[in-house]
Amino acid sequence: GALSRLIVISNRVAPAEGSHSGAQGGLAVALQSALREMGGIWFGWSGGQTDVFTGQVNLQRGDGYTTATVDLEEQDIDEYYNGYANRTLWPLFHYRMDLAEYERGFAGGYQRVNERFADTVRPLIEQDDTVWIQDYHMIPLGQELRRRGCANRIGFFLHTPWPPRRLLATLPEANELVETLFAYDVLGFHTAEWLESFCDFARLEMGADIEEDGDVIRFGGRTVRVIVCPIGIDTAEFRALAASDTAQHTCRQMERSAVGRAMIVGVDRLDYSKGLEERLLGFERFLLEHPEERKELFLLQIAPPSRASVGSYQRIRNTLEGLSGRINGEHADLDWVPIRYVNQGYPRDVLAGVYRASRIGLVTPLRDGMNLVAKEYVAAQDPGDPGVLILSRFAGAAAQMQEAVLVNPYSAEEISDAILTALRMPRDERIARWRALMDGVEREDVMWWRKRFTDELIAAPSLAEVD
Ligand code: G6P
Repeated sequence: GALSRLIVISNRVAPAEGSHSGAQGGLAVALQSALREMGGIWFGWSGGQTDVFTGQVNLQRGDGYTTATVDLEEQDIDEYYNGYANRTLWPLFHYRMDLAEYERGFAGGYQRVNERFADTVRPLIEQDDTVWIQDYHMIPLGQELRRRGCANRIGFFLHTPWPPRRLLATLPEANELVETLFAYDVLGFHTAEWLESFCDFARLEMGADIEEDGDVIRFGGRTVRVIVCPIGIDTAEFRALAASDTAQHTCRQMERSAVGRAMIVGVDRLDYSKGLEERLLGFERFLLEHPEERKELFLLQIAPPSRASVGSYQRIRNTLEGLSGRINGEHADLDWVPIRYVNQGYPRDVLAGVYRASRIGLVTPLRDGMNLVAKEYVAAQDPGDPGVLILSRFAGAAAQMQEAVLVNPYSAEEISDAILTALRMPRDERIARWRALMDGVEREDVMWWRKRFTDELIAAPSLAEVD
């Protein structure tokens, strides 16, 4: 039969028209490529506020797909987005119980907004559509759609880590939340580690049955398939961006401003999960341990502010301001500053030029579902003289990128050693590692990810056939 339309649902929706802005997370950019390829509707929050929720959908037809967005009330935004999504689930799912806030008001708002999304998107879904829901903002949405008679194939993909079961068990409504996941046909995770933690919780805390080969779970009369399906980037597109006039211009500009020094680059949303404090301390450690190399390099850390209404984000911003100022004050000289710390986002073609001009990409999250900056860094390199990727073992990307220089991001000593290794790495070895990394980034790109997930979803037995 004809290919079914894809209905993608996520909290953030990237505009169907227009260019790549500097503020988008990797997820929005990746989904944009997937939708351009397959066509359909992308539904989510507009990012805007309204006095009274009406469920009025703003439809925008663009290049390859249509966006459908809806405004939320102030209380919705507080309890659902700033509250349960970003004060409760985000820290907990990144192993930060110390930052997680448990309040019934947040849980209630999260449920209410998911019901509102279900009411709003339900009429847009036609019988043969395939529905694909993304990320921790929307966990109960599949169940709400089922309650509204939606018998379509519905898949869910988690872009964050799944926490160890003992941590998740501290969430007051953990079991109810995880139960809602059994409304889906397919659940996707970036790594075997996240999938294993999910299965542990389902089995040991809830008594779910897991089939021998581990990829089918039964609970409460429902069966879901669980798969490992790591997201990639649009590698061909990013390569083209790296060859663009803007990227080339940026690359030359960065080389001029580096005056022969090696540039280390980090690009991250300003988030406590990214290990920025530990990264700066690791870099300082290098300066202290290798005084003779000091003025031969500098760190450019680009960190656009994120989720600024949430206290833990305000605190990490203050911490980094203090720390970058302290390190620069202590180590800078008349003709050299060790850290360029920038709280601004840049367009993707500019970033591609920055990556290409750098000698080292420093990607050291304490915990990350995937991390697409690592992949973009690789895709932007000059094949004849590539830079070196230093990557945290605790990023999902590390499972695929074993040829990077892998580090424990909690250890300043390991970060310092890795910087020295990368600086001294001979060109032959840089090329060999880069080639191996680039093969993976090319093979398992965002189209591959989209196809692997939707193939599994389309192959799942449909509810309509079962009934
Ligand atoms: C992460 C999440 C995404 C989110 C992005 C940006 O990548 O997995 O769902 O969109 O961060 O965060 P924001 O709160 O600005 O959407």
